[in-house]
Amino acid sequence: EGACMIMRPRGLPAAAARLRPHLPRVTAFLIVFSVGYSLGIVSSSARPSTPKPSQTVIRPHAAHLTAASSAGVTASSNGTGAGASASYPRSPPHDLFRFGDKCGEPVPAEDVVKTLLDKLFDGESPYASFPPAHTAALLHPAAARPRGWGSTGAVFADLIEEVRPDVIVELGAFLGASALHMAAVARNLSLSPAILCVDDFRGWPAFRGRFRRDVPQQRHGDALLLPQFMANVLAAGPEAAAAVLPLPFSTASTLGALCRWGVYADLIEVDAGHDFHSAWADINLAWAVLRPGGVMFGHDYFTAADDRGVRRAVTLFARVKGLTVRPHGQHWILSPKPRGDGR
Ligand SMILES: C[S@@+](CC[C@H](N)C(=O)[O-])C[C@H]1O[C@@H](n2cnc3c(N)ncnc32)[C@H](O)[C@@H]1O
Repeated sequence: EGACMIMRPRGLPAAAARLRPHLPRVTAFLIVFSVGYSLGIVSSSARPSTPKPSQTVIRPHAAHLTAASSAGVTASSNGTGAGASASYPRSPPHDLFRFGDKCGEPVPAEDVVKTLLDKLFDGESPYASFPPAHTAALLHPAAARPRGWGSTGAVFADLIEEVRPDVIVELGAFLGASALHMAAVARNLSLSPAILCVDDFRGWPAFRGRFRRDVPQQRHGDALLLPQFMANVLAAGPEAAAAVLPLPFSTASTLGALCRWGVYADLIEVDAGHDFHSAWADINLAWAVLRPGGVMFGHDYFTAADDRGVRRAVTLFARVKGLTVRPHGQHWILSPKPRGDGR
């Protein structure tokens, strides 16, 4: 009955007359409602949305690192072949893979030591008149066999015999154990390579606690590793001192300089920083100064130190470069540098 009333045309003017007094309030309500609604839409579209915890935010510049890419190589996170895998791009633009591979015109092997003495030591051997009395008083008596880590492993003799190097670069020399062993091995093979020992001779934070009998007491913040290394080399005889040259700087800066100066090595031992990033940088930078046909090897392939940083770096490098890794005792050996890779 009511519905019929509304349908009746005659009833409309009466209903309108009844609503008329409420019209201003209804209109005002509608205006306020529409303005509020519009403002709400505008502000919600301007505010950045907070991702839900389960959402992964891939920023555009890093997207290529997380996207599964057919151009990339896959490396296991622990370097053992097991565990979660991550995809890496094969080439720049990412800095992780951007290392120069073009170095200077090669200095002839027989001129390498003179070149370095000129550039680093004002043309004079660092062993000349060493040690001055005030330094000698601070040092331990030179050890016949300085403290090291796998420093006399069979890998040294095997590789020196195989490669017959004119120039060896050692990254990480500590007290000279492995360098002196290489000098002795080379001598037994009637070889006389220059053995360039790159080490900042600072050790690592609080290292001395474990080596009080091997390393002198620090002096004014100086670990005195360099003079102890040099004393150990001199004690091994003049032939050792003629062969083993300390390059007392960081591995990265030294490798960059060797590259610029055209100083190449036939054999490179990597045994400095053992975290992934140090080992990764050392291996990549050293590769540039490895002569094609030369061999790179290093220590600590099997130890769990630094979350297997060395092993992960070696594994990734081998995959990126298409090389093989040959374990040898505690050491790793990469297949020889292909001719045509860099200089
Ligand atoms: C494990 S010891 C080397 C042992 C030596 N190869 C041996 O067998 O006797 C590591 C050495 O690397 C050096 N080292 C670590 N990081 C370095 C860096 N970034 N630059 C230069 N030397 C570094 C330390 O000072 C230390 O003497």
